[in-house]
Amino acid sequence: MTALRMLDQDLEGKRILIRQDLNVPIHAGQVASDARIRASLPTIESALNAGGRVMLMSHLGRPTEGQFDAQYSLAPVADHLSKLLGLKVRLCVDWLDGIDLSSADVVLCENVRFNVGELANDPELSQRIADNCDIFVMDAFGTAHRAHASTHGVAQFAPLACAGPLLVAELEALHRALDDPARPMIAIVGGAKVSTKLTVLESLATVVDQLIPGGGIANTFIAAAGYGVELSASAGAQVKPVSAIRDNDMILDIGPETAERFAAMMSTAGTVLWNGPVGVFEFDQFGAGTRILGQAIAASSAYSIAGGGDTLAAVDKYNIASDVSYISTGGGAFLEFLEGKDLPAVSILEACAAR
Ligand code: 3PG
Ligand code: MG
Repeated sequence: MTALRMLDQDLEGKRILIRQDLNVPIHAGQVASDARIRASLPTIESALNAGGRVMLMSHLGRPTEGQFDAQYSLAPVADHLSKLLGLKVRLCVDWLDGIDLSSADVVLCENVRFNVGELANDPELSQRIADNCDIFVMDAFGTAHRAHASTHGVAQFAPLACAGPLLVAELEALHRALDDPARPMIAIVGGAKVSTKLTVLESLATVVDQLIPGGGIANTFIAAAGYGVELSASAGAQVKPVSAIRDNDMILDIGPETAERFAAMMSTAGTVLWNGPVGVFEFDQFGAGTRILGQAIAASSAYSIAGGGDTLAAVDKYNIASDVSYISTGGGAFLEFLEGKDLPAVSILEACAAR
């Protein structure tokens, strides 16, 4: 990557605006899984320790632009961040016309997706965002596949635009796994979004030695092979071979034999890429497959990368974080990187550095 890096810049006394991916699940006004927040802490601490005046931006969910909606407010994230940092983090609601940095250690700007023009990467909005800073730092790997005002446009207008340490670490880890991977390389692509993942699988099939479709997308393959599968709301937990599945059955996890087979594959792999659980692991009766797979990845000596919101939650639930080689904060961004696509928020930093 040829982008400038935050850690190489003189941050002393500068207004540093950092775009992070603090898009975390919120339940009943509380942060339900804070992996992405924890991943962003070293960047914030480095900027503060270097004497920077730190402002943070993030999106949360997909609200309607131009409308404040409390369920998408970053207020719970500001509180959580404050506890983790042991510092005063102030949420700034109206921040486009200037940010007051005097009364807090860190300012968190309210959800960037409340701003009209964010998704369209509007140049006027991008300019207004950039006016708040001396240095723009793109650190949101999880949102690097989006060309939005706060991830892309702002870089063009900021006096200096550079890559944050989390973004750099994510890209280096993924390059290490993919440029010259230890073989055999196995990818597990689970989760529910079948339509977007089919193209990912097509690209991945040319890169990896073995590909395991899991979760919702596995059902597509089973149906394509001529077996019956129907998505229905009523489901009792039963273990069956694929040949015994009826049209009105719903597959919510892999069975024990499949799990053992996948686990055996993990033990001989050189590299493992894991995006998406293989069952509805949030409910324990459908979690055994994801647990066995996760534990096999943890026990394997392969270089392993796990990424994506649900995958991170599974890694936390089964307590395997310390035995996975690299945990990525990216879901969609991780998959687009695996596909070999350019990440627009990274390309713009490289263009700025060349300027
Ligand atoms: C994610 O959770 O995948 C990222 O935060 C990006 O969110 P988005 O898919 O709403 O752009
Ligand atoms: Mg997403």
